[in-house]
Amino acid sequence: MRFLVHSLLVLTLTGSGLWAQSNFGVSCPGSNGKDPLVSYPANAWMAFPSTGEAVSIVGGVPGAPAVLMIGRHPSGTVNFDLTGIGMPGCFQYVTPFKFLAVDGGVLDGNGAGTAILPVVPQGQEFSFQWIFLDAGAPRVLGVAASDGMVASMPSLQSAFRISSASLADPHVFTNQVVCTDITDSVFNPALNAFIDSDGNGDLLLDASLMFSFRPLDLNASEGIMDFVLPDCTSPIGTTVCSLPTTPEARTRYTNSQSICLDTEPGTTNWPVLTSTGGPCFVSDPVNLTLNLNGVVVPLQDAQIGGKYLGNPPTQITEGLIRGFLSESVADSTMLPPELPLIGGQSLASVLAGGVGNCSPTDARDLGPDGQTMGWWFYMNYTADAVEVSSEPAPMLSYATDVYPIWDGRNCTNCHGNAGGLTLSGSVGASYTEVLSQIDFQNPTSSEILTKPLHTSQGGVSHSGGSTFANTNDPDYQTILAWIIQGANNN
Ligand code: HEC
Repeated sequence: MRFLVHSLLVLTLTGSGLWAQSNFGVSCPGSNGKDPLVSYPANAWMAFPSTGEAVSIVGGVPGAPAVLMIGRHPSGTVNFDLTGIGMPGCFQYVTPFKFLAVDGGVLDGNGAGTAILPVVPQGQEFSFQWIFLDAGAPRVLGVAASDGMVASMPSLQSAFRISSASLADPHVFTNQVVCTDITDSVFNPALNAFIDSDGNGDLLLDASLMFSFRPLDLNASEGIMDFVLPDCTSPIGTTVCSLPTTPEARTRYTNSQSICLDTEPGTTNWPVLTSTGGPCFVSDPVNLTLNLNGVVVPLQDAQIGGKYLGNPPTQITEGLIRGFLSESVADSTMLPPELPLIGGQSLASVLAGGVGNCSPTDARDLGPDGQTMGWWFYMNYTADAVEVSSEPAPMLSYATDVYPIWDGRNCTNCHGNAGGLTLSGSVGASYTEVLSQIDFQNPTSSEILTKPLHTSQGGVSHSGGSTFANTNDPDYQTILAWIIQGANNN
């Protein structure tokens, strides 16, 4: 038996959000005599495009059923000699709070495999160890084990919450005896009231838009960033934000010293502040739906840019969010009724150039495809560094998180009697039915997830169609996370 690194490493973590990982201990080879090692493929968590949050094994036995054990570090990192239970030379390094089966259930032809971590609480440390079944392993129990790995998830110290915002272009017009531009007099103040106060008394700021750098590194040329719609406590001065389990969008950011984000030529009618002068950043284009307390703006090719203030930065200034809002989407997007003067109307009808708008200026533009009519939408903002509560993702409940999805996504329209699956019954009855549709070895292969998922995204053919366009659907993510947490009837 070969010995690898012997000592348990103590990792010192700085608050700067740096990633750290370390292997420790010895492996316990299978029948092929190779050392199975926990590995972390090519920095996938930090790479772009992100290949998923994954932990791998190399040096295992081809075809062996394998499971990744995950423990919290340091409380769940242990060092048990397994000689006494018939595994001489083997050690257990992790007291697992979670087991994940290797993708596909068994190790590949090279004895390698990967487990995808669906939810990775930020700013915490975990320990990992692989075990696999191997009848030919040279010990009484046909089990082999890898070495251990301790890893810290980058913390979100580099999270910024937009603390003020103003729509710069197009402008908002409404008929008040005469056609009036209410962008700066009514619309932007209302927007900022959502951002900086708690109008509905739920102790949370009414609208929170955040972006987080994973991690923020002013010296790197690029990195990953997430767009998040968090819950942030009121008042704004001491706000703490808690993160949803999945970001709205994840993309790359690029640092620059000159111009980070500018307007598209010929698409503005009013002044827009651009993000210029270093150090500044810009994201790659993504589809992003801004939801500011019910003011929903679905943007294509959305980018965010801004200038760092301080090092480490405490604020982003000269911020710009830009993206294309198609006219057909704006026609069908309704403004919340409580918005002064323009509530209850379609988004298009309040924008200069939209159907039914009174503005003499037609501010519409052509979209990125050169054909679609709509608006290049420009919002200037300032964002402040905020504290993020790094509570682990809460345990999901069948009754309150999962069960309402069956009604909410219309599954129960058919699954009272269709397809031999009844989702319309009581919580308890439907739970029993759902259990029969779960693949615990390989949660993403569970029929309860694959049937409603579009076939281009790994779904299977379903008479009920594809409710989930892709795996980013929040309900898909909820069901998946619930299965991984053990599919409890709670
Ligand atoms: C328009 C009707 C309809 C809707 C809506 C519908 N389904 Fe189905 N579903 C069916 C039918 C019919 C079958 C059986 C034939 C098949 O598998 O396509 C089925 C099969 C299934 C199965 C496999 C059942 C088994 O025992 O093999 C699952 C799981 C499932 N549906 C889940 C869902 C979920 C979850 C939703 C909501 C997101 C949903 N379905 C919405 C009609 C529907």
